[in-house]
Amino acid sequence: MQTVRRSVLSLATAGKEFTRSVAVNSAAVVTNDDNNLKSWKEIPGPSSLPIIGQLLHFLPRGSLHENFVTSVLYDQYGPIVKIGFFGSPSIVLLFDAEASAQVLRSENLMPIRTTFQSLDYFRHNYYRQRGAAPNEPTGLVSDHGDVWKKFRSTVNPIMLKPKTIKLYTNSLTEVAEDMVKRMRSIRNEKYMLKGKFDFEMNLWALEAIGVVALGGRLNCFDHNLPQESPTRKLIQIVHDIFTTADRLDFKPNLWRYFSTPNFKKAMKLYEEQINICEYFVAKAIKEFKTQSQTSTEEKGVLEKLLEIDEKIAVIMASDMLVAGVDTVSNTMTGTLYLLAKNPDKQKKLREEILSDKQKRPYLKACIKESMRMMPVVPGNLRVATKEYNIFGYKILKGTHVIFMHQALSNMEKHFPEPEKYIPERWITEKTDALFHRNAHPFAWNPFGFGMRMCIGRRIAELEIETFLAKVIENFEVEWFGPPLQTRPSSLNYTVGPYNFIFKDAKK
Ligand code: HEM
Repeated sequence: MQTVRRSVLSLATAGKEFTRSVAVNSAAVVTNDDNNLKSWKEIPGPSSLPIIGQLLHFLPRGSLHENFVTSVLYDQYGPIVKIGFFGSPSIVLLFDAEASAQVLRSENLMPIRTTFQSLDYFRHNYYRQRGAAPNEPTGLVSDHGDVWKKFRSTVNPIMLKPKTIKLYTNSLTEVAEDMVKRMRSIRNEKYMLKGKFDFEMNLWALEAIGVVALGGRLNCFDHNLPQESPTRKLIQIVHDIFTTADRLDFKPNLWRYFSTPNFKKAMKLYEEQINICEYFVAKAIKEFKTQSQTSTEEKGVLEKLLEIDEKIAVIMASDMLVAGVDTVSNTMTGTLYLLAKNPDKQKKLREEILSDKQKRPYLKACIKESMRMMPVVPGNLRVATKEYNIFGYKILKGTHVIFMHQALSNMEKHFPEPEKYIPERWITEKTDALFHRNAHPFAWNPFGFGMRMCIGRRIAELEIETFLAKVIENFEVEWFGPPLQTRPSSLNYTVGPYNFIFKDAKK
């Protein structure tokens, strides 16, 4: 009898869960235990129709249209909710921190997380057509298994080394100062920014990540950028990729069955994005050659990646542009909004910034608190590589399990007074009821978990800290009118109107 190793994760005992890893033989796969498990059909969730599944709920005017990441589903169905519609995989949403912890830990050896399936499709075909072998990487966001693991272990020591990231403090400060100048130059008589605020934040985020990924300034803030310049092209591509990929991969779409116009557009865009990364990386190589650098000087991310291989540098740059622009810009917008709505916290932050102290705990706390209330990634996904028993339901291998950390970090049981912006909870004493460590450690998880955690975390934090400090030093940020809205999709996108007012701050 063939023996297989099978891991069964039991999360059935409401909050007091445990993990078992048992060796069983294949004939015993359906055990008495398994027979007692409830089936997929029994998992609670919105009503479903034959063939189209729950599609109607997710369409405009449906009860869950752009409204499924908060605790709405939890309130109605409990900690485990099934969702799915025509063409989508089997998905369960977990609204329980301990259950999330158990699955995430169990999936931490070679975690599988799908992102944009159209991008995966493109990259694998594109690199193969260019002669790449199946074991060659296409990128962190598109690879899985051994290929992902090898690539990730190659780039981890570079992308996550604090000393390397710290090197960017001065250049990111320059980017922040230039963006503040730009903001001043585009303010109207009401102290509001002319043009689209989200576009402005994306420009800043692109300029900032460009310094790391492409080795220099892109000059995105130049009002006179020629229409045909590579930077202008890059701005457009970065903008179009997310909107196009979002439409293809996060909405019901037929591209998996035939080549739709949106699919063709996406394939063209993805190719242009790689081409433009190649262009900028080649430009940086030429510039590095002309710069005299002694061997003792710490090298930056791009130079270190180039020392491994130019292909690796281009692939990583391409990933940084896919994952490192909208995430950072929307986090920044959310943080500015929350500080504008909480002028006392903003004042306290300004005082810390103006005090010129090296350490800025309140700045970090403000950002953490924003990411608790308005995380840009609403949930974290793993494709189950084994079968699970979660709350007594049988969850099959291959199921997409989404850990709903936005809902969790806004629950009273984890963070008291969750609807209030209280940065102090991140720096207060242990004895304070607000102390953040009273929350379950998986209830706040904006950068993901474990081996597959965001590789840009340190970079993102430095970018946001530097820019936020400059904005608050220079402007008193106010907000008027109705609350800022977000549109959940692959990310939580903030949507206008952006009623920000940027008055000069008294220094
Ligand atoms: C506030 C900003 C950001 C947030 C909230 C964020 C969040 C995340 C999350 C939740 C994941 C998935 C982690 C997991 O599956 O466990 C992720 C992955 C990733 N992020 Fe970020 N991210 C941010 C900024 C950035 C930046 C600036 C970069 C580029 C330097 C970046 C590059 C990546 C990459 C390449 C991955 C895939 C990692 C892998 O699969 O191995 N992110 N990010």
